Amino acid sequence: MSRLTKEKDAKLEEVKKDLFASLGAIVSHDPQLRKNKAIKILEVGVGTGVNFSHYPNGSHLTVVDPNPHFVKYYNDNRKKFPNIHSQDIIVTTGEEMDQVESNSVDVVVMTLVLCSVGHTDKILQQILRVLVPGGKFYFLEHIREFDSEKYGIRQKLQDFLTETGIWPLLFDGCCLNRDMLSAINEAGFSSVIGERFYAPISNFFFKIIQPQLKGVAEK
Ligand SMILES: C[S@@+](CC[C@H](N)C(=O)[O-])C[C@H]1O[C@@H](n2cnc3c(N)ncnc32)[C@H](O)[C@@H]1O
Repeated sequence: MSRLTKEKDAKLEEVKKDLFASLGAIVSHDPQLRKNKAIKILEVGVGTGVNFSHYPNGSHLTVVDPNPHFVKYYNDNRKKFPNIHSQDIIVTTGEEMDQVESNSVDVVVMTLVLCSVGHTDKILQQILRVLVPGGKFYFLEHIREFDSEKYGIRQKLQDFLTETGIWPLLFDGCCLNRDMLSAINEAGFSSVIGERFYAPISNFFFKIIQPQLKGVAEK
């Protein structure tokens, strides 16, 4: 993962830049942070910490990831962003992140995580629990091919590689054929703006995760 995420694809970074642009306009629920024009963010499934560069200066960042092997890489990355007040990784799943207080964060960010979680509904309920009323959930996920007429082969390949267990075995439980938009729509957010799109991925092998979903939901 560290090797794969080290070299950032400029076009993919543009997609993220666009998605996260509105973070800068969020006003914190916390009076002290509000005074400093800062916000409180929780990132679920932080991995090596690839999203630091998209967070507004002064952000207070809490992070959760169940894989303890990411701690070293995350700690190396966070050193490069002294403008972000990042905390140590809480080593747990999003489904079990009970240490994070209810109604305590302005924003939850999750990128490329729902493909490998055990219980999508449970994690979405936890996100709703920790967000303040009016708080925002930013998501970016790869999903099952949504144009079966044009890209039916990719859809079949995604199903095959997932159902035979080959892809989950190679990529730490990752499933290629989930469609998360309906789960997010049904979770109980007051609004959801989600867009299916094709991510600008140049590596031929990873074109299988080109169909993606990005958006923002509000509690
Ligand atoms: C493909 S990586 C994505 C990492 C990072 N968010 C990114 O965009 O590069 C998937 C991450 O989700 C984490 N993860 C897997 N299951 C999880 C769960 N149930 N709750 C939270 N994170 C989980 C993994 O440990 C891994 O760090």
